[in-house]
Amino acid sequence: MNSGVRILAVGHHAPPAILSNEDLEKVLDTSDEWITTRTGMKRRHVSAPEEATSDLAIAAARAALYRAKLEPADIDCYIVATVTPDFPFPATACIVASKLGAVDKAAFDIEIACSGFIYGLTVAASLIRSGVYKRIMLIGAETLTKIVNRMDRSTAVLFGDGAGAVILEAADADSFLSSELGSDGSRPELLRVAAGGSRTPLTPALLDSGAQYMYMEGREVFKFAVTKMIEATDSALQKAQLCKNDVDWLIPHQANKRIIDAAAKYLDMPDEKVIVNIQEYGNTSAASIPIALSEAVESGKIKSGDVIVFVGFGGGLSWGAVTWRWAN
Ligand code: ACO
Repeated sequence: MNSGVRILAVGHHAPPAILSNEDLEKVLDTSDEWITTRTGMKRRHVSAPEEATSDLAIAAARAALYRAKLEPADIDCYIVATVTPDFPFPATACIVASKLGAVDKAAFDIEIACSGFIYGLTVAASLIRSGVYKRIMLIGAETLTKIVNRMDRSTAVLFGDGAGAVILEAADADSFLSSELGSDGSRPELLRVAAGGSRTPLTPALLDSGAQYMYMEGREVFKFAVTKMIEATDSALQKAQLCKNDVDWLIPHQANKRIIDAAAKYLDMPDEKVIVNIQEYGNTSAASIPIALSEAVESGKIKSGDVIVFVGFGGGLSWGAVTWRWAN
């Protein structure tokens, strides 16, 4: 009957070039000590100048296909969650599907910043549970280092590049337990790229002022992040009729170790149940949760039957949590 969904396979990819805290110390007024204590970050992976988001997405998708023993044509629909698409349009997902050799398949992007994977998981799971598709490739992929101002220490130390992919497929038992999504667009100036869209098209003067780069009010976003991660998790657990003790793994968006710790503490999640890889990748926005999931699955941590809470927040402002029972 197949009205459920499960994650069949995962994969991830990060470009090999590393930008360490020590590298940043050499070019910015910052220190390894500041970055480590304020964020938990040590390194980030950086794409090459000629490398675009679709390149990272394709590598992650290939890793997932390999594990699933599937061909690109076996996937009905490709979804890429990204805030750093190859182009304003066409959708990066179309490029990914085509370059993989998946002809005539459905493909579209989801643009909701760091909440992209959570939103994408909800959309993809719903498309499968409603019978529209049998298999979907959902990829969170970003090249954030291309939209940060390397001279702005308040953002340049935070972001990295990478991609994580999951293949979802129809299943009899349902892994999707609940979802809680939200947004508040009343203060876009807290976290955005101010120019380059229809509100403020780019001009040479704006380019000179750096308006094409990401801007963030870190302290404000921090407060919002802790509150919304807790509220979204509580709400998703309630919808799934689960309590905190039922959760085996918390896989949060990797934006700041202090945000993760504050949320985990409130949720009574001991360190060993919280997946953290921020020290290696920094904040990879929509890619951070699927990369963390892929590494956790690869290491054998996650077992069949485990309950996972995926939770994220980001530009929009936006937030979301999904509860999921691992079946594999
Ligand atoms: N190195 C050294 N000093 C720095 C740096 C740096 N890289 N960056 C800022 N500082 C300084 C500031 O200038 C400030 O100095 P002052 O006290 O003399 O004014 C001081 O450090 C403290 O600055 P705060 O901004 O208050 O530092 P905070 O403890 O809040 O940490 C941070 C900043 C890491 C950005 C934090 O606020 C944060 O993580 N915010 C959330 C960011 C986030 O989660 N973004 C996710 C969404 S991203 C997306 O959706 C694409």
